[in-house]
Amino acid sequence: MTVLLQTEDLTKRFGGLTAVRGVSFTLSFGEVVGLLGPNGSGKTTLLNMISGAHRATSGQINFEGHPIQNLRPDQISKQGIARTFQLVKVLPTMTVLENTICGLAFGSSRMWGAEAEGKAMEKLHQVGLADKAKQPAATLTYIDSKRLELARALAADPHLLLLDEWLSGLTPEELQEGIKLIKSIRDAGASILIVEHIMSAIRELCPRCIVMNAGEKIADGLTGDVLQQQDVIEAYLGAPHHA
Ligand SMILES: Nc1ncnc2c1ncn2[C@@H]1O[C@H](COP(=O)(O)OP(=O)(O)OP(=O)(O)O)[C@@H](O)[C@H]1O
Ligand SMILES: [Mg+2]
Repeated sequence: MTVLLQTEDLTKRFGGLTAVRGVSFTLSFGEVVGLLGPNGSGKTTLLNMISGAHRATSGQINFEGHPIQNLRPDQISKQGIARTFQLVKVLPTMTVLENTICGLAFGSSRMWGAEAEGKAMEKLHQVGLADKAKQPAATLTYIDSKRLELARALAADPHLLLLDEWLSGLTPEELQEGIKLIKSIRDAGASILIVEHIMSAIRELCPRCIVMNAGEKIADGLTGDVLQQQDVIEAYLGAPHHA
């Protein structure tokens, strides 16, 4: 399998706190990998380094064979990495369609005008939000604002999609819908790194997963095997709401 993303000894320190410590892993083209770990274990910080929101303290990130650890977020999104945020970030006064067009404008295939509008509508259809295209984003429900973030990320035509707890906070019914949607994206051949606490979703979506604890990678392998590992189970003890 061809390697798409590779991190090498990646470390992020915030003052005296080491949020991510020496994390190395690879993700191949077309792979969907889960990234798990208790609260504060460094998952979002890892995504922040891959997407350029935070500069790594040390270590390397290679994407499609090129080092990206010193690039800005806009440069990284142009290279083909798109993400959603744990705390949803949409532009509230802009319409749903305009928010989606932003993804196109800053993604790998820069596009404006009517062409961008057509492509954005396609993505809104894909996530089930086409009928709300003209509404200001501020009027959306929580799940719809999550759908919008996903449409915006997909509009960038990413080679790699980073999802940070995209499924969290949904009702059981919405969760099933959300899993179906991510499955359809996966089945279309996308490469995805999924940070998630919902184990049933991880089992359904990710053949492989990586587990972090206190900033370090403690497991990486087939999901069924990893979730039986003693140190993984222990890392999750004390966080029963994530079981
Ligand atoms: N900008 C920052 N400045 C200082 N400390 C930070 C910053 N971002 C994260 N941290 C700290 O780094 C550690 C890892 O945080 P991170 O958000 O990456 O964890 P997480 O695994 O995503 O947790 P959760 O499951 O709760 O989202 C935590 O101790 C957190 O307080
Ligand atoms: Mg997080």
